Amino acid sequence: MTTPTYQYYNQLFKNEQLPLCYCNLDLLNENIQAIAKRAEGKNKTIRVATKSVRSTFVLQHILKSNPIYKGLMCYSGNEALWLIEKGFDDLLLGYPIVNKEEIRKICQQTKAGKKIILMVDSEEHLLLINSIAKEENIVQPLCIDIDMSTDFPGIHFGVLRSPITTVQKGKELIDCFNKYDNISLSALMGYEAQIAGLGEKNPANGLKNLVIPFLKKKSIVDYTKRRQELVEYIKQKKHPITIVNAGGTGSIESSKLENWVTEITVGSGFYSPALFDYYNQFKHQPAVGFALQIVRKPKPDFYTCLGGGYIASGTIGIDKQPTPYLPIGVKLTENEGTGEVQTPFEYKGNEPLNIGDTILFRHAKAGEINERFKEMYLISDGKIIDKIKTYRGEDQCFCDSIALKTNLHVVFQYAIFVQF
Ligand SMILES: Cc1ncc(COP(=O)(O)O)c(C=O)c1O
Repeated sequence: MTTPTYQYYNQLFKNEQLPLCYCNLDLLNENIQAIAKRAEGKNKTIRVATKSVRSTFVLQHILKSNPIYKGLMCYSGNEALWLIEKGFDDLLLGYPIVNKEEIRKICQQTKAGKKIILMVDSEEHLLLINSIAKEENIVQPLCIDIDMSTDFPGIHFGVLRSPITTVQKGKELIDCFNKYDNISLSALMGYEAQIAGLGEKNPANGLKNLVIPFLKKKSIVDYTKRRQELVEYIKQKKHPITIVNAGGTGSIESSKLENWVTEITVGSGFYSPALFDYYNQFKHQPAVGFALQIVRKPKPDFYTCLGGGYIASGTIGIDKQPTPYLPIGVKLTENEGTGEVQTPFEYKGNEPLNIGDTILFRHAKAGEINERFKEMYLISDGKIIDKIKTYRGEDQCFCDSIALKTNLHVVFQYAIFVQF
C-alpha cells in the first residue's frame, strides 16, 4: 500500500477524543511480512518480543500471520503468567527473575504442561529455581543468557547484563547444572544489543555513526565464535538444548547467518518507532503513532497541542523524545520539546492547520507508548475498524508497578473488612 498522507489521518481522527494512539493494520501487516522475509531461508523461527508490542491482540495477530513466528519472549514473570491465562504458550523469559512467588507459579505452570523457560546467568539463579522446582516436584527448563558485547580500547560495545562474558565462564555455569536435579538446560540466549538496537544513521550519535559499522563488523566476528563454542559444549555435555536464541530487529541479517542459532527475537520492527528509521539494512513502515490535537496558536506559524510528552527510556537524549510525523515540516521548539500537557511547534508548510486539527507523532521506542494509552485505534483501508486494548487497557502494568489487579484485590478485601 502507499504510505498514508497527513489528510488520511486528520480526516479519520476529526471527531475522536484526542490524544489517541493508533495502529495502522495495513502497515503492521507489511512489516510482519517484511520481517519474515528478512529472516527466511536459513531455517530460523522468530520469537516475538512482547515488551515491544504490549497488546495481546497484536501478539496473536503476528503469531497467526506466518508460521515463521513461534513463541514469545516475555519481560516479567507476572506478565508470562498472565499471558498463559490468556491462552498463550511457548514463553521464554528474556531476563532473570528472583521473586519466589513468581518462580513458584511458573513452576506450577510447567507442571500443568505449559512451555515456559526461565532465564539465568549465575549459580545463584540455579540454586533458587532448583529449590522451588524441587518443592513443586518438577524439572524446570532454563535458558542461559550469555554476554555478547565486545570491548574495544576505551569502548564497551554492547550492554551490561550477563556476567557470562567468556567461553570459560559459560562452561563453568553449564557444568553447574550437573549439581541440580530439578532444573534442565534447555536453551541458550545471546542478545547482541550493539547490532540489534543500534542504528548507523541516528543523527543524535553525530560522528560516532562513522565508526559504528566498523565496530559492528568486528563485534560480530568476536561474539559469533563465543556463541558457537558454547552451543557445541552444551551439546557435547548432552544437555537437552532445543533453543539457541539470538538478536533483535536490527540484527536479523547477521543473526541468521549463525548456523547454530535456531530462532531470532523480534519486537520493535513490527511498530517501527522512530529510532528504527536509522538502520542501513532495512526500513519498516511507521505502523504505530499517536495523534495530538491543536488547541491554541501562540503566534503566527506556531501551534500548541494538548499532551505529547511521552519520552522513551534509556540514556537521556534528544532522540528519546517523540518525533513529529505528519504533516511533514512540524518542528518542535528547543525550549519545550514535547510537553507534559502542552506541545508547541512551528509549522510553515502547505497544510492549512487550524485549532482542532490533528498532528501525528511517533514514539522513539516500540512498546512503551502502550503504557500511556489504554487502547489503540486500529486503522485499515482509510477506516477505523476497531479499538484494541493495550496491556494498560487490560489493567496490566509490568515492570512499572504491581499489577493493578493485585491492588484492586487489596481494596476489595479492605472493603469487606470495613463492612464487618
Ligand atoms: C533479550 C532481548 N532480546 C531481543 C530484544 C530485541 O527486541 P527488539 O526487536 O524490540 O529490538 C531485546 C530488546 O531489548 C532484548 O532485551
